Amino acid sequence: MSERRRTCVAVIFGGRSVEHDVSIVTGHQIMRAFPEDLYELVPVYISRDGAWFTGDPLLDLDNFANKGLLQLEGVASCLLSPDTRHHGLIVNPLAGRFSKSAVKRIDVAFPALHGTHGEDGSLQGLLELADVPYVGYATLGSALTNDKAMTKMVLRQADVPVLDDFVFSRESWLNQPDQVLEEIQQSLAFPLFIKPATLGSSIGISRADSLPLLRAGIDIAANFDRRIMVEPAIVDGIEINCSVIGFGDEFQASTLEQPLSWDDFLSYEDKYLRGDEGMKSAERIIPAPVNDALTTRLQQLSLRAFQAVDGRGIARIDFLVRPEQDEIYLNEINTMPGSLALYLWREEGLSPSQLVQRLVDLAREAHAEKRRNMYDYQTNLVSVASRRGIKGSKGAKS
Ligand SMILES: Nc1ncnc2c1ncn2[C@@H]1O[C@H](COP(=O)(O)OP(=O)(O)O)[C@@H](O)[C@H]1O
Ligand SMILES: [Mg+2]
Repeated sequence: MSERRRTCVAVIFGGRSVEHDVSIVTGHQIMRAFPEDLYELVPVYISRDGAWFTGDPLLDLDNFANKGLLQLEGVASCLLSPDTRHHGLIVNPLAGRFSKSAVKRIDVAFPALHGTHGEDGSLQGLLELADVPYVGYATLGSALTNDKAMTKMVLRQADVPVLDDFVFSRESWLNQPDQVLEEIQQSLAFPLFIKPATLGSSIGISRADSLPLLRAGIDIAANFDRRIMVEPAIVDGIEINCSVIGFGDEFQASTLEQPLSWDDFLSYEDKYLRGDEGMKSAERIIPAPVNDALTTRLQQLSLRAFQAVDGRGIARIDFLVRPEQDEIYLNEINTMPGSLALYLWREEGLSPSQLVQRLVDLAREAHAEKRRNMYDYQTNLVSVASRRGIKGSKGAKS
């Protein structure tokens, strides 16, 4: 009796993003969760400067502490082919006289990238071209939610509460800083938060209680993005996060968490580097200590927001809340949440293994659904054009 073929899942991590290291950890958490008897895992590591690699040594997180990782025996260059005939990777694409290149077909791609060039629609676009099913948001939803200001515009339309903001370009900041400061102060009051429109992990974000700090904060944010967003700071609030999974008309909201490292705000160090356990050490209360009515409301808003941005797969939806004042603001939607929000789904009785398999199933469902679209439309346009010639070209009939 032949063994059933295992599903081949390529987990893609690392990437040309300030969240490169976080993604390596997320990628390994995902790979570890798959049952080996049912899935063949293909690790795909994208270096900080955007070089692609695959090979068994990349399955071992310990190897990433090794500076010579990419020289290890078994690590090879690869690229994801946009050519639908390959349906996956070309390993060793620039093979020379002593090596051969090979095609590695994959069933499903699992992007585990955070931030730019991974969570922002660009990788999703490549996977669309390749016609490979992939986990998570599609191109539009990824690109949209990667931009905090654009996300808020769409959420306002969907009646999801978000903070007001003032958005401007780096160019206008460099050319007319005083006018920008004037306009900000006309529409918003201190204290303020300044953020690059894209990015994550609190990089480039600051809080300002005064004009000099606002100036400094904008200078910082302008290093990271072409568009900058300023919004009011929520004082004495708490953060509550909710994860959502689903596709089509079936969506599920998770238990809520309250991340605890709220000081002035969560800094990058607080989130990832404190303690020896890395991400796990960012303390959180699960379930979040809020009453049932607020819990239900936050879950409902999460579902509505997920759908409004064409959500698919998984997301973690982050809120800023002032429970006493009954104020709720959706802060951001993370389409590839750190650690996949595994800890929230565990509360719902979904083990990490069940969660990653569910996400692979959703990727396949979405891909099958897309097959309903027609991409080929036969016409006789070309033969007519060749018979008549093309206007303006040599031999064209006038
Ligand atoms: N308007 C705000 N008021 C108060 N705190 C905020 C506000 N915006 C962000 N923060 C704090 O800053 C953190 C990082 O901001 P966020 O928008 O989530 O960016 P990132 O994408 O880097 O996670 C949040 O988790 C929260 O603690
Ligand atoms: Mg955040």
